[in-house]
Amino acid sequence: MNPVLFTPLKLGEVTAANRIAVPPMCMYSAKIGVAQPFHLAHYARLAQSGAGLVCIEACAVTPEGRITEGDLGLWSDECEAGIAAVVDAMRTAAPGVKILIQLSHAGRKASRTAPWLGSKPLGIAEGGWRVRAPSDIAFGADGPRPLPLDFDECGALVRAFAQAAKRAERAGVDGIELHMAHGYLIHEFLSPLSNTRIDEYGGAFENRTRFAFETADAVKSAVAARTAVGLRVSATDWVEGGWTLEETIELVHGMKRHGLDFVDVSTGGLVPDARIEEAPGYQTSFAARVKAAVDMPVFACGCITEAEQAETILRAGLVDGIDVGRGMLDDPNWGWHAARALGLKAVPGLAVPPQYERGLRL
Ligand code: FNR
Repeated sequence: MNPVLFTPLKLGEVTAANRIAVPPMCMYSAKIGVAQPFHLAHYARLAQSGAGLVCIEACAVTPEGRITEGDLGLWSDECEAGIAAVVDAMRTAAPGVKILIQLSHAGRKASRTAPWLGSKPLGIAEGGWRVRAPSDIAFGADGPRPLPLDFDECGALVRAFAQAAKRAERAGVDGIELHMAHGYLIHEFLSPLSNTRIDEYGGAFENRTRFAFETADAVKSAVAARTAVGLRVSATDWVEGGWTLEETIELVHGMKRHGLDFVDVSTGGLVPDARIEEAPGYQTSFAARVKAAVDMPVFACGCITEAEQAETILRAGLVDGIDVGRGMLDDPNWGWHAARALGLKAVPGLAVPPQYERGLRL
């Protein structure tokens, strides 16, 4: 039987050669939002991994929307040129790969040091900036108190997402993933733990999801139909009183109605003290619940590291696509090795980079 992992997957008008996706992973190595030579090498390498889809890391839609000073951005012509160069490097390295980019705003989790420096809040005196969020509730005990966004600023940020989406499309990506997960701005609107607003953006589900839907609509209208648009969502906050799986399913239903093409289901990130036990496939059951409820391509992520594990999940019909994140950093030829492990002699639809053919022969 042919492995399901190596069958094509359609996201809107975009067809990926297989169901392996590299999820967005911040490298914190940009300068004023602009991609550097590191990114060209890194993304060219991931483009050659044998994955059908590679999603470029979270790109901030405004400078204040960066987690760290090193985040990629997409708010200026310089940023756009940097992403265009990254996309070019990826297409040169692997003509068949489909390229997504994640658009994000870090909300109250902005202005921090890189993970290898402790992810500590970066004060204004140290080059940081005032963090903005739906409400003035800090992230964790050491987090700065955010200045709540006023109504007009919410509209301006929705437009910033749309503008960044246009830039991404001009830079040549095949699709856009809206970051609504991991405790960043859009997730902060969704969760009652971080959103205590009393205007149209807070309170009932309809209000907490308003920013998300406005963003989805603005981005959809900003790009052509050929550009796939999807979302990444945290299916639970892992704490009492937080955003729930049931709300996630409702949100994804709505996103389907609003014309989005795929959903990538993650969890957590809203509060620092949530208890999350990472184990193989620990988030897959959340993605499977979404898949069972909504007719839309669903990706699972989280500790899926083995080809057989990915194949078993797909064969059971739990989800449509598999994210391999840290596994790809560990082994950037993961896709080729997965094909070999599942008994294939080639990765259908993707050419072995001719320069590596003698080493990667299956
Ligand atoms: C991440 N993750 C992440 N998620 C996201 O939505 N946007 C991002 O930019 C990042 N950045 C990031 C950087 C690094 C170094 C890691 C390791 C992770 C989360 C990532 O996409 C993925 O969901 C998790 O790593 C879980 O999948 P794996 O790694 O277990 O396959």
